[in-house]
Amino acid sequence: MTDLALELLRVEYSYRRDTALRGVSLSVKPGEVVAITGPSGCGKSTLLHVAAGILRPQAGAIKLMGRNLAELPEADRTRLRRTQAGVVLQFGQLVPDLTLLDNVALPLLLEGHDRASARRAAQEWLERVGVAADADAVPGELSGGQNQRAAVARALVTGPAIVFADEPTGSLDSHAGEQMMELLLSSVRTGGSALVLVTHDNLIASYADREVRLRDGVIQHEVALS
Ligand SMILES: Nc1ncnc2c1ncn2[C@@H]1O[C@H](COP(=O)(O)OP(=O)(O)OP(=O)(O)O)[C@@H](O)[C@H]1O
Ligand SMILES: [Mg+2]
Repeated sequence: MTDLALELLRVEYSYRRDTALRGVSLSVKPGEVVAITGPSGCGKSTLLHVAAGILRPQAGAIKLMGRNLAELPEADRTRLRRTQAGVVLQFGQLVPDLTLLDNVALPLLLEGHDRASARRAAQEWLERVGVAADADAVPGELSGGQNQRAAVARALVTGPAIVFADEPTGSLDSHAGEQMMELLLSSVRTGGSALVLVTHDNLIASYADREVRLRDGVIQHEVALS
């Protein structure tokens, strides 16, 4: 057993030509907010994708809620990721043909919830993030900020232990970006989720409990902020 939401142990990741992570170890406690910062190309997005179980590292281990992803059968790993990890990317990445309501209901449907209860929970989350009036619109009809709000709802609707966000404010102007951060923080607090947030924006990073600074694929230093 563990009292950590996430643990990375000496994780290494290489693309075909570039080595992006050269032995990264990181622990995240339940409810903790961690900002990953560092210059472009230092490996922030790779770290986030590896931690979220989207990319599989060539070396090292990832434990989500104490369970080693590499040791789980594929079906269990998928279920663990779906129920315990939520992901918000820079441009929302909603399914373009689905309404906001159906986008937010989707993770619950994949988990086996019935359609009526999934849609009810999705509607509640759309209200919480302030886009309930757009529930029947598709992403292409809405602004980046509206889509990003729905992406937050989609990431949180399953009540995950941890939310991963890669530059969630990157496509927004600074005012909308701050509002998005407030929303993301209040949402993870409501759900009791931890948050791992990639950002190159110092103001955004200052919302975190801890800043982890990467450089050339290694952790350069960590700073407690609160
Ligand atoms: N899909 C990919 N294929 C090949 N190499 C990649 C790929 N994605 C990233 N890399 C390389 O891995 C290294 C780390 O990239 P990564 O995207 O993780 O950095 P980053 O810190 O997120 O940068 P940015 O701030 O620009 O988003 C870089 O050298 C990059 O060129
Ligand atoms: Mg990146």
